[in-house]
Amino acid sequence: MSRIPAIFQNLRIPVIGSPLFIISNPKLVIEQCKAGIVGSMPALNARPASQLDEWLAEITEELASYNAKNPDHPAAPFAINQIVHKSNDRLEADMELCVKYKVPIIITSLGAREEVNIAAHSYGAVVFHDVINNRFAHKAIEKGADGLIAVATGAGGHAGNKSPFALVQEIREWFDGPLSLAGSIANGNAILATQAMGADFAYIGSPFIATKEARAATEYKQTIVECTSDDIVYSNLFTGVHGNYLAPSIRAAGLDPTALPESDPSKMNFGGETNAKAWKDIWGSGQGIAAVKEITSAAEFVEKLQKEYVAAKKKLWEVTH
Ligand SMILES: Cc1cc2nc3c(=O)[nH]c(=O)nc-3n(C[C@H](O)[C@H](O)[C@H](O)COP(=O)(O)O)c2cc1C
Repeated sequence: MSRIPAIFQNLRIPVIGSPLFIISNPKLVIEQCKAGIVGSMPALNARPASQLDEWLAEITEELASYNAKNPDHPAAPFAINQIVHKSNDRLEADMELCVKYKVPIIITSLGAREEVNIAAHSYGAVVFHDVINNRFAHKAIEKGADGLIAVATGAGGHAGNKSPFALVQEIREWFDGPLSLAGSIANGNAILATQAMGADFAYIGSPFIATKEARAATEYKQTIVECTSDDIVYSNLFTGVHGNYLAPSIRAAGLDPTALPESDPSKMNFGGETNAKAWKDIWGSGQGIAAVKEITSAAEFVEKLQKEYVAAKKKLWEVTH
């Protein structure tokens, strides 16, 4: 039997559209899934909490109706991201809704908890946990996650500082299950590279900020189009955890991106409005965005990735045969 859960079999390309705080919404998730990649969103994007019920109804109904009309090319499955941090007081209620709607994939971040995995497994969901090092990877699997997301250096939002080569190599020494790799992946060559390295899926976030469906200000989308890795700043000032952000948004907030102070980790809060406000003004982004040349629909971006991925495979075959 394949070690990759059957649910991933109908992906058009081995890509998971990663959850983006504030930005991902049902529209983006639905379009990602219809385009053939896993679509995802943080449960916390639904505000107030009761909106999650409506959003999950919308996603499941829309995808079911699409699948009924397209039995030969069904949509990819979707994922809901849970922030498993003590400051998230919605976790239990949000998980209950995931159980109610049988959300196929649960992505957990900022903490691994057995109860969340047990709840997800109660109806057969697959749980991926995101980690920035091998130690957290071990912990996540011990607590019952099925798969891992290795978040390497250069990833948008909260990110580690490990080379993707080191991280995947260390995890693959002991873990044979489904493994995603995140951090600056933004074109077909990079997707193929994640597989060459030993991972199964490319986990892609920042490029989707510059899509028509994304719930981001037009200036944010345009900044993604215009910036490169030179414009990305790694700091723990805004949430207490290190992450990558767009320098122009830091300057616009009146701060010098080259001289940011350190944060106070005891002030970490991931569920509340203060955190939402920080992310609204300070724009998260990974280093891979030079590959994003224009604002397009999510479907057009996935189409571009697929063409590049096919071309990259062909080129690799030619140079290795
Ligand atoms: C603006 C922004 C918001 C994010 N919000 C979340 C989040 O709420 N939950 C989460 O697990 N990851 C979040 N991430 C991290 C992504 O899921 C993913 O790890 C990252 O985007 C991958 O790197 P890339 O942006 O270079 O593709 C966020 C990333 C960005 C850029």
